[in-house]
Amino acid sequence: MDAENRVRWGILGTAKIAADRIIPAFHESTVSDLVAVASRNEDRAGKFAEEHGISRAYGSYEELLGDASIAAVYIPLPNHLHCEWAIRAMEAGKHVLCEKPLSTSTDNGIAMFEASEENKVLLVEGFMYRFHPQTRRVKELLAQGTIGTPRLIRAAHSFPLILQDRDDDFRWRAELGGGSLADVGVYCVDTARHLFSADPTNVFAQSKYHPDHSAEAETRAILTFPNDRVAIFDSSFLLTGRREYEVVGDKGRITAFHTYNPGRGVDVRIEIERDGEKKLERIEAENEYRLEIDHLSTCILRNERPIITREDSIGNLRVLDALRESARVGAPVEIAVAN
Ligand SMILES: NC(=O)c1ccc[n+]([C@@H]2O[C@H](COP(=O)([O-])OP(=O)(O)OC[C@H]3O[C@@H](n4cnc5c(N)ncnc54)[C@H](OP(=O)(O)O)[C@@H]3O)[C@@H](O)[C@H]2O)c1
Repeated sequence: MDAENRVRWGILGTAKIAADRIIPAFHESTVSDLVAVASRNEDRAGKFAEEHGISRAYGSYEELLGDASIAAVYIPLPNHLHCEWAIRAMEAGKHVLCEKPLSTSTDNGIAMFEASEENKVLLVEGFMYRFHPQTRRVKELLAQGTIGTPRLIRAAHSFPLILQDRDDDFRWRAELGGGSLADVGVYCVDTARHLFSADPTNVFAQSKYHPDHSAEAETRAILTFPNDRVAIFDSSFLLTGRREYEVVGDKGRITAFHTYNPGRGVDVRIEIERDGEKKLERIEAENEYRLEIDHLSTCILRNERPIITREDSIGNLRVLDALRESARVGAPVEIAVAN
């Protein structure tokens, strides 16, 4: 595809997720060109650009935002910086793909979408798992009534950050927007809202802290949805790796394994149980990060609405705020409706 039909992208920061997943996805994309990276440190930007085959390196985020040839920016900064830099990018006329969680509060998220509307640019939260064929297949099975009426979702997302030599990781620091809920619990929240196509009206959470770190290290939560539906999940930096969910209806259940971030080349599975019979479906590996980048570039080129919306992101932030409040006060918290 010629350059006119491709979107020119820049990245703010030299994040691990960019190096590991997003940059390879950009290199695979036929509708996107990754042309620049910016770092707080000029040398780091230069080395990162060289290592990853990126032509321009900027020694500050401002400089990259001043590059008029760049149409869209990917923001994989620590969570407390998402709001500020997404708004600055949008005010500079750039479309934004911002990593999950969109921000550290609902109010910040709303301000970000106001900037998106005012500057007539797209703002999309980076939930790559929503592009994975596994997620689409589960949604399709639910729509077909495969398990009857879905009423219970159980989800888990944990990994032992505690065993990794990463004491300086922003995830451990409350003031940088860390915590297991923001880092991995947000996938469970999004899964429940996406698969039920609804918002919870009441939540209850308990959080556990590690003595050496300010951010919450583990959270267990119950989300109550309208029409007698419930989602139960846990997120943790203290437990072994688990990325899975189960959707239970009156006629059967679907269990999804290796969800969220299955790793390159890993086939993912869905187990469908109905009328006492179990069937295992294998879903071919797809690069969900490339699908995400392709989708957003295509939406920019065609002026289309992305599949991850304001309602998705603000709805998630409302639930995260309510869960934190519930864990703080030790009681259930009601969620007011409407975005
Ligand atoms: N979708 C996914 O699969 C996925 C997976 C992992 C993480 N994420 C999300 O991606 C974001 C980044 O996560 P990560 O683990 O890749 O982060 P990371 O490796 O710690 O990188 C964050 C980058 O932000 C920049 N930065 C600016 N101010 C900083 C500060 N005060 N402290 C630390 N870094 C600062 C740094 O780049 P410079 O110093 O070079 O400017 C740094 O390289 C988070 O929002 C996270 O939730 C998403």
